Amino acid sequence: MCGIVGVLGNHEVAPTLVEALKRLEYRGYDSAGIATVNDGQLDRRRAVGKLVNLSDLLVHEPLAGKSGIGHTRWATHGAPTTINAHPHQAGPVAVVHNGIIENFRELRTELAAHGLTPSSETDTETVAMLTQHHMSEGLSPVEAAGKTIDRLNGAFALVFLFEGQDNLMIAARRGSPLAIGHGDGEMYVGSDAIALAPLTDRITYLDEGDRAVITRTSVEIRDAKGRLANRAIKQIQMDAARIDKAGYKHFMAKEIAEQPTVLADALRGYLDGDSIILPGEPLDFTKIERMTMVACGTAFYACLTAKYWFEQLAGLPVEVDVASEFRYREPPITANTVALFVSQSGETADTLAALRYCREKADRIVSVVNVAESSIARESDLALPIHAGVEVGVASTKAFTCQLNVLLLLALKAAADRGRLSPEALSDTLASLRALPGILNVALDRGGVIRKAARRIAESRDVLFLGRGLMYPLALEGALKLKEISYIHAEAYASGELKHGPIALIDKSVPVVVMAPRDTLFDKTVSNMQEVMARGGKVLLITDAAGAAEAGQDVWQTVILPEVPPVLSPLLYAIPAQLLAYHTAVAKGTDVDQPRNLAKSVTVE
Ligand code: F6R
Repeated sequence: MCGIVGVLGNHEVAPTLVEALKRLEYRGYDSAGIATVNDGQLDRRRAVGKLVNLSDLLVHEPLAGKSGIGHTRWATHGAPTTINAHPHQAGPVAVVHNGIIENFRELRTELAAHGLTPSSETDTETVAMLTQHHMSEGLSPVEAAGKTIDRLNGAFALVFLFEGQDNLMIAARRGSPLAIGHGDGEMYVGSDAIALAPLTDRITYLDEGDRAVITRTSVEIRDAKGRLANRAIKQIQMDAARIDKAGYKHFMAKEIAEQPTVLADALRGYLDGDSIILPGEPLDFTKIERMTMVACGTAFYACLTAKYWFEQLAGLPVEVDVASEFRYREPPITANTVALFVSQSGETADTLAALRYCREKADRIVSVVNVAESSIARESDLALPIHAGVEVGVASTKAFTCQLNVLLLLALKAAADRGRLSPEALSDTLASLRALPGILNVALDRGGVIRKAARRIAESRDVLFLGRGLMYPLALEGALKLKEISYIHAEAYASGELKHGPIALIDKSVPVVVMAPRDTLFDKTVSNMQEVMARGGKVLLITDAAGAAEAGQDVWQTVILPEVPPVLSPLLYAIPAQLLAYHTAVAKGTDVDQPRNLAKSVTVE
């Protein structure tokens, strides 16, 4: 979603701001802008669409100044227009903002009584206007911003810049992350450390409720209660923040191809011989009676897969819900329940709210995250890193398989702790898991046949995905991936549900992707597949050699994957699902890495 940068520099900042915003492009946005203070004057440039439009504008209308703020906007209040783009300015105040100000209408009414009217449709402009109003009453910039922040309801990360103040930025965090970067006589602010990586590797993460007064040589942070707060400066791994396509055409292609490597690294982080090692205080699965798993989107499908694992392997009942439903459902949390939250970004607003709902109710709050410094990680009793590395493509790929990996290890540990998996069986499964990165490489080699099928699928209006058991969540994930980057309508069903309605959709124009390794459910899935073919449906069967030999004769296309123990099949079958979506999107010529309307980190509900 929206991205923020701020720089108090010793040189012209406009190019630095645009460069930093480029590093935030992956979060998804529809307009961008920067503001600077030059000779005491605030000025700004804003443009709709990609950053290149802002860069072009700056060529024709340069913006001078050594201090400035910048923003990429993902529209919430008001269409993506230049007027609605950030930074917003009201008199001597410019503001950039991530999140939502829930009481902006009420504040607008108040400001109208003072003769102040907005020029945009945004909630953010109200923040600038209220600060302007407080300054007109005689307050200093710091006092005025502070008084404004006190009035705001909702979730936000804010950075303020002021006319006549070339050496001052004010930053505030409530609900949306914000990091301060320390340079040499320069200071930076960013909505994540990735934006600041080329500028500095010394980062201070603001805590929830923090406000910071920043100059080129100082940072004063106060906590939510107004007390001076000492927040550590952390040295971040520059490598971890590296963003490049490494020769691939898209980040998504690179991230799909990286899966064998990141999975092998992740496994090394969790395995010591035949022991599964978790960081922090151990989870005692013998005492746990129930698990509640909550997430959104792809991370939700990882949870749905994990439900099968935990229930089948460990005999542990698992409830799974999407965070936006869970948080308002007020679900009872019974004794000895572990609440587990899965999130790549660790900042998803609904997932974070669901975690907070469980805070005093569940026995333990566990999270499975990619961003170690994220809010969800920080607010968990136990945060399990997935070690996927930075994921830039908006469509989640390597994070999904790495989430599956951690969830599977957790389920195996639960099964072993609860005496449902012998040490020998655990050792065998771990050996297969260690061999999996090599097998994923074989699946990646199937790219050619998938690309061929994708060219035909690109011409379709609707696509169905079918799967049973562990393949059902994978079918859901395959359909989500396809629709989000190719804009083709795709739906997934548990194969057994076909006859209860969706079969009405089948005709020869609808490709049906059937995910079916030759496991105990194979025959049943194949029966459903026959029902599709009997009605002219065009089946793309993704299976293994035994499955293809048995059922691959009359289907439209077959993708043959290596055989793996059934429990590992979700990690393997994720690859053709991702490749199919990717090649279809490429064939359609859509924006693969930044699909329309989507954001990488969904920090509003
Ligand atoms: C789909 C996708 C989204 C995310 C969802 C949750 O490809 O990426 O569905 O999975 O927005 O995001 P996180 O995992 O950051 O909580």
